Amino acid sequence: MLKEYDCWFQKRTITPSINVPQTVISLHDGLVSAQALKEFVSGIERLLEFKPKVQKKFEEEKSAIFLGLIAGMKLPVFEKGNLCAENCCKSKHTDSFIIKVTNSQIFIAGQNENGLLYGVFRFLSLLALGSLKEGFELCESPVSQLRMINHWDNFDGTIERGYAGNSLFYKNGQFDYDDKRIEDYARLLASTGINRVSINNVNVRHKAKLLITKEYLSRAGKLAAIFRRFGIRLFLSINFGAPWSLGKLPTADPLDSSVAQWWKERAALIYKYIPDLAGFLVKADSEGEPGPFQYNRTHADGANMLAKAVEPFGGEIVWRCFVYNCQQDWRDHNFDRARAAYDHFKPLDGAFDKNVILQIKFGPYDFQVREPVTPLFGDLTKTRHVMELQITQEYTGHQIDLCYLPWLWQDIMNFDTARGEKSRIMDLLAPYKEGQSNIEGFSAVVNVGLDNNWTGHTLAQANLYGYGRMAWNPSLTANEIAKEWTILSFGHAQPSAQKIENILLNSYPAYEKYNAPFGVCFMVTPNSHYGPNIEGYEFSRWGTYHRADKDAIGIDRTPSGTGYTSQYSQKNAALFADPQTCPENMILFFHRLRYDFVMKNGETLLQNIYDNHFEGYEQASAMMEEWESLKDLIESEVYESVLSRFQRQIANAREWRDQINTYFYRKTGICDVKGRKIFD
Ligand code: GCU
Repeated sequence: MLKEYDCWFQKRTITPSINVPQTVISLHDGLVSAQALKEFVSGIERLLEFKPKVQKKFEEEKSAIFLGLIAGMKLPVFEKGNLCAENCCKSKHTDSFIIKVTNSQIFIAGQNENGLLYGVFRFLSLLALGSLKEGFELCESPVSQLRMINHWDNFDGTIERGYAGNSLFYKNGQFDYDDKRIEDYARLLASTGINRVSINNVNVRHKAKLLITKEYLSRAGKLAAIFRRFGIRLFLSINFGAPWSLGKLPTADPLDSSVAQWWKERAALIYKYIPDLAGFLVKADSEGEPGPFQYNRTHADGANMLAKAVEPFGGEIVWRCFVYNCQQDWRDHNFDRARAAYDHFKPLDGAFDKNVILQIKFGPYDFQVREPVTPLFGDLTKTRHVMELQITQEYTGHQIDLCYLPWLWQDIMNFDTARGEKSRIMDLLAPYKEGQSNIEGFSAVVNVGLDNNWTGHTLAQANLYGYGRMAWNPSLTANEIAKEWTILSFGHAQPSAQKIENILLNSYPAYEKYNAPFGVCFMVTPNSHYGPNIEGYEFSRWGTYHRADKDAIGIDRTPSGTGYTSQYSQKNAALFADPQTCPENMILFFHRLRYDFVMKNGETLLQNIYDNHFEGYEQASAMMEEWESLKDLIESEVYESVLSRFQRQIANAREWRDQINTYFYRKTGICDVKGRKIFD
């Protein structure tokens, strides 16, 4: 029976494709290794319905499963150097693992304890997927060092941009969590390779400011202890203004010695409670949060001061680059919000301490359905940095609409920054090295809450799973992940598995088609960000305008306009600046075009807008029909809850279709050439 709560850890007896011995020999002691052993034993029980016998010592067993560290496995098979000898030089990399299956023995070995845990989880998935066979050998290293989850959870229990119930961590201004649920959550994350979690909203307001006080730190310490068993270290989001709002100092100026001292003492206190704290996550000078600009200091001044406070404890500062002027005047056509991250941070390349990591949103705006990859990627060579994604569906349907995000992420991973050889995002993922534009990993705003199925929409679990998998290996495709997730969650049975996979893969293109056209962005209801409101942000302070009139739409971001395209490499700047070569799915992000501009399919821009909106609605309806065809094949509770979301999605898609089409019809007076109904 499918249990939504169990996500991709369903209890489902399978016929193994290999011989799985009855004895497991655990060769390494340690907190995470012990957890790996537990996971292995319970995973085998879940899938094969027997409990392996655990032994701590190797006694020449002919048939056994060996769990341990690569370096510590003093087994004949290792000494001969034949455990994946040739292709496993990568196994020296942090968190890597080896799996090897012979006819009577199975070896799972990690480079470190985390690696062992990841190896165990991967083995169990491969077993459930039916991909193992005798002689199987796998050696994997994560491409990203930092694989982080950001919680935007508030202390009152609400979650900023959360669509799956309240916080797992807080309620009524206090920590309030169920240890078992946190453990289950940590398991889900670790099973996809996540190694860092920030536990509170980047907007650190109200009671959350007290997180770094004694009263709250002891509960935070207990939370950290649960995650620690799964190889996950915590980050705390801090408020840059804390020295005055909490410490009662007259200033939070990063160059003031009393401020620096205050943070040093605070860090010492925090590390008493969470000795392995990964560090602080900081949103500064952004959307009303305090920051160094208030004191005429740079972001390097701000970040480095904090970096020095956590440095003695091995801590790091993850500093967000979501810094832009949110008090713009819509009348001013010269100011372009899209330029902000690059304009602020490119000049600071090389100015940050070595324990500062910049966290850069993937696009120049804000997690839109389609926007280009920000030009900072590929162009920071002296600063550590990671990419920020959003798993929670703020602009992508609030976990009411189905929107399978690895579809978008795959495009991001394939984006070529065109600075030197091998310059796609996925090629740049590597540990920091001065002089190279390596990206160290990913961070993403998570989509979970207290709902029984974690993510509101059950199929949105695929986004959580997909994020972890892609952060681990950015060259995995959206198709591969969809297949894997579907089988682990719903089983192999056909036609359901194939249909669910199809539904996932069709969902992003459908959503994109009925949303704001061709990368123009932000035609969304202000504040909530669900459903259409075409001019909702048109005359506001947020700097996200489309400026549609009766003849044309979009912002000219070429050198004859705001010059944003020039922030890219020469090759990309030329590509984007010419409407004939600019990728069409974001042509309105870069250009202001007349409605009669002829697109690649020979139709006008306007006709393409109409077509996409009719098609997007139809594709959403087709997804629902495909789901309805599974009625008797899926657990009714899951079937019904997903169906009710599809029904709401159809209503939303219809609103988008009709509002967008009517808007442009009213502006232009031009009918759909195919004569479909556009309301006036
Ligand atoms: C978006 C989002 C905010 C969030 C912000 C951020 O603007 O709407 O709720 O605080 O991003 O990333 O900090």
